[in-house]
Amino acid sequence: MTTAIYPGSFDPITNGHLDIIERASKLFDRVVVAVLSNPAKSSLFTPEERVGLIERSVVGLPHVTADLFAGLLVDYCYRHDASVIIRGIRAVSDFEYEFQMALMNRRLRDEVETLFMMPQELYTYLSSRLVKEVFSLGGSVRGLVPDFVLEALTQKYPSRPNLEWVD
Ligand code: PNS
Repeated sequence: MTTAIYPGSFDPITNGHLDIIERASKLFDRVVVAVLSNPAKSSLFTPEERVGLIERSVVGLPHVTADLFAGLLVDYCYRHDASVIIRGIRAVSDFEYEFQMALMNRRLRDEVETLFMMPQELYTYLSSRLVKEVFSLGGSVRGLVPDFVLEALTQKYPSRPNLEWVD
């Protein structure tokens, strides 16, 4: 039984994250999507709201769960008997930060392997940060996030500009 942890901020989950989750769920017995609960980092959605949105997104994937974590990721892996950390890589620009994290995590706990996965090309430019920026300024992010995330974003930005040409 191999458990993989897919950690991140997920503020909010996007279809790019979901693509990675679906791919990972085919490789591992159990995938835990672990949301970092970090009060020092400002976020649009609370950690609990982010977990809720992930849970709704993975309803069709029986071996995938969502959880909150704080502290060191490798410690969370240890406590959940997980031997794999999954990280999505969209472009070469992601690589340097990811490489540093993977090697530091390996130094802290050699038994945990980091696996980099690529999302579908369609999502290579997609990030939670851009989704929030575009949506808050009145742009459309339909098709880039699940529909209920779109609804949740609408509630967070009640006074976003009403652009005529946006669907
Ligand atoms: O989606 P993000 O913000 O790129 O995810 C970063 C995350 C949560 C994976 C990373 O910040 C993390 O693992 N934080 C937990 C603290 C930790 O273990 N730090 C050492 C990592 S080398």
